[in-house]
Amino acid sequence: MDLDAVKTSYARWAPIYDRTFGAITNAGRRKAVGHINGLTAERVLEVGVGTGLALPHYRAGLRVTGVDFSEDMLAKARAKVRDMGLAQVETLRQMDARQLDFPDASFDAVAAMHVISVVPEPERVMAEIARVCRPGGHIVLTNHFARDTGALALAERLTAPLANLLGWHSDFRIERVLGQPDLEVVEQSRLPPLGMMTFLVLQKNTG
Ligand SMILES: C[S@@+](CC[C@H](N)C(=O)[O-])C[C@H]1O[C@@H](n2cnc3c(N)ncnc32)[C@H](O)[C@@H]1O
Repeated sequence: MDLDAVKTSYARWAPIYDRTFGAITNAGRRKAVGHINGLTAERVLEVGVGTGLALPHYRAGLRVTGVDFSEDMLAKARAKVRDMGLAQVETLRQMDARQLDFPDASFDAVAAMHVISVVPEPERVMAEIARVCRPGGHIVLTNHFARDTGALALAERLTAPLANLLGWHSDFRIERVLGQPDLEVVEQSRLPPLGMMTFLVLQKNTG
């Protein structure tokens, strides 16, 4: 998707997101945040924070920064932080994930949930995520990745041309996030609903 499509698509999604796509993808969000809560970490970046559905689940003691390109989605996240008094959320900023405005190694952990098949230039976003993560830090992704066979694979291919309307690429391949030379897969598993989503943990090399 290009950035104009992200903006218009997520302006449409923002008012209904938490009750629709957001509601059926909670398992992945909870598992990703649970993983981060279990780390010895302080500074956390959530890329594509959206309406902030994950924010209430980060444990006390973390300092969470959220970024998103869509002002409409961010407005929902800001309202949650305010209404729920989420002290662990340090800041929410409008930003293009292809150019993260943070120095190298700024964060102990980075989360990107249901985002990497939405952004333009996902490989560039992964490089930016790797850059701002400290050596030894964890990067946690949840996402739908394309299948090679079966009815779902066919559905993914048929809906692929609707990316700008849907707000994501249905036929997005996992290989596109695995190409960073300084990142290593440490965990990969399927998530509900129906194993359609994948939970993926990458670690930044220390060498
Ligand atoms: C499907 S939503 C996921 C939101 C949230 N992570 C969640 O799990 O509910 C995808 C989000 O990615 C954001 N996004 C897309 N392209 C982006 C970019 N280039 N930079 C930052 N955020 C982007 C969208 O605005 C949207 O809020």
